[in-house]
Amino acid sequence: MSLIKHDFTVAVCPGSFDPVTNGHLDIISRAADIFDKVIVTIANNSSKTPLFSVEERKQLLTEVTSHLPNVEVDSFSGLLITYISKKQANVIIKGLRAVSDFEYEMQMASINHKLNDKIETFFMMTNPKFSYLSSSIVKEIARYDGPIADLVPDAVESAIKAKLKENKPI
Ligand code: PNS
Repeated sequence: MSLIKHDFTVAVCPGSFDPVTNGHLDIISRAADIFDKVIVTIANNSSKTPLFSVEERKQLLTEVTSHLPNVEVDSFSGLLITYISKKQANVIIKGLRAVSDFEYEMQMASINHKLNDKIETFFMMTNPKFSYLSSSIVKEIARYDGPIADLVPDAVESAIKAKLKENKPI
């Protein structure tokens, strides 16, 4: 099966997005330039204790992608590949920051290919200016009252500050 044969390409960009960073937004907006539709989907993964609820993460993602008309925000539980089939999507988009991301992402791409070889994983190199950036790093800086304005969209900065005011451990 060739991607070119699809009249309408739907890409799914999965992740925890706890919270969405400027690095995520860079990948999402570049994917939105390439594919007809991009579904940014939040994994409802019970093994992690998130700072933001799925609903809060959804609201933030919706707000920061509102200028991208072909981007939709959603969430899922269970296997990503099952969700992708349900959405009739063709492609999984993953951002790669550094070689350290590669091993894990290759394992994920390989297992997803084994589970459904009709769905392709596409990797995009993160803009080098975001190569050090992750949601965990943002939370770590915020926890110690450091500046995060250049790392996340304004709405996310405000939401993290609000969590700090609530004395929510981050
Ligand atoms: O932002 P993250 O935490 O690196 O995202 C990881 C995510 C959610 C993309 C990955 O854990 C995932 O796909 N989870 C769903 C379960 C699944 O399908 N796992 C792969 C096969 S075992």
